[in-house]
Amino acid sequence: MLIKHKKRSDCSEHEVTDQAVYLNRRQFMKVTGGAALGLGFGNAFAALQSGNPLAPPAPWQAAFNNIRETAYGQGEKPAPYDVATTYNNFYEFGYGKDDPAKRSGSLETRPWSIAVEGEADVTGVFDLDDIIKEALLEERIYRLRCVEAWSMVIPWVGIPLADVLKKFKPTSKAKYVYFETLHDPAQMPGQRRSSIDWPYREGLRMDEAMNPLALLSVGMYGSILPNQNGAPVRLVVPWKYGFKSIKSIVKIRFVEKQPTSTWMDLAPNEYGFYANVNPEVDHPRWSQKEERRLPSGVFLPNVIETQMFNGYQEEVASLYNGMDLKRQF
Ligand code: MTE
Repeated sequence: MLIKHKKRSDCSEHEVTDQAVYLNRRQFMKVTGGAALGLGFGNAFAALQSGNPLAPPAPWQAAFNNIRETAYGQGEKPAPYDVATTYNNFYEFGYGKDDPAKRSGSLETRPWSIAVEGEADVTGVFDLDDIIKEALLEERIYRLRCVEAWSMVIPWVGIPLADVLKKFKPTSKAKYVYFETLHDPAQMPGQRRSSIDWPYREGLRMDEAMNPLALLSVGMYGSILPNQNGAPVRLVVPWKYGFKSIKSIVKIRFVEKQPTSTWMDLAPNEYGFYANVNPEVDHPRWSQKEERRLPSGVFLPNVIETQMFNGYQEEVASLYNGMDLKRQF
C-alpha cells in the first residue's frame, strides 16, 4: 500500500478456480456435516484423508458445523478462492501481493490468546478457543475495497464484533477500541524490516465497532482463515478501506481517546482515522472513483464505479451525521 509499488499484477483467468467450486464446496460441507474445506474440490477429498490444515481445530468444530447463512451479499459473486488467498496485503510477510501466501507458513496460530485491556469491566488474557467454541458463526458475503483501488467479494465466516466486545463490558469511558496485530519477527519476516513501526495497529469508534456490519472473522469460504488472510482472527469492516480490517489480532484495548493507527503514524497526510470508502475523496496517490474488481484480466479489466461507504450507506451513513465526510479520509 505504501512504499514499494510493483506493477499491478492482474489475475488472469487461468489462475483462478470458478465460483462453482466454492458453491459446490458449500454444498459438500452440508452433505458432510460441515467438514470445512479450503481447497479446490479435487483436492478436498485428499485433504480430508491426509488431515486438512484448513479444517477447523477440534474446539472450533461444533461452531463451524453450524455456520449460519445470512442475507449479506446474496447475489454477489465471490472471488475465486485462489485469488482471495494469493493477492493479499499483509506487510508482516512482505510487500508483494503473493508474499503473504508464500511466506506466512511460519505463523503459528495455535494456541492463540488475545489480551483485553483498558476501559472495560472484564479484562485479561483470553484463549481464542474459548471465544470460538461458544460462538454462533455466520457467513457474510462482503465487498472488500482496498485504498489501492482494487476490490473483491469474499464470503467471510465470523462473529458480529459487537457480540464479542459486549462480553468484556466496556465502561462509559470506552469511546474507541484499539486493535493490535502479533509482533513476532521470528514468525513474521516482514517485521525484521523497520519500514513500519510494528506492531500493525488500528482502531474504531465504539459506535462503529458496535455496528452490526463489523465482523470478527475466523474463516472464509466455509473454512478457517489461511494465514495470509489474517489467521486466526481478524477484523472485517466492509464500509471502510481494507487497511482498517486488521489481521492476526492479539490485543483489544478500550480507550477514551482516538487511537493512532499504523497508517496515520506513517503518512498522516495520506491516511486518516475514519477511512470510509468515498469515491468523492481521492487518496493523494490513487483516485477513488473506480475500482478494479478481482479477478480482472490485463486486456479486459473489470473496472466498476466505487460506491459511497462501499455500498453500505443504509447500514452506516447515520454514524457520520454532521461530519464533513470530504475532510474525513
Ligand atoms: N493487517 C495487518 N496486520 N497487516 C497488514 O499489512 N493489510 C491491510 C488489511 N489488514 C494489513 C492488515 C490491507 S492494506 C488490506 S487491503 C487488507 O488487510 C487485505 O486483506 P486480504 O489480504 O485478506 O484481502
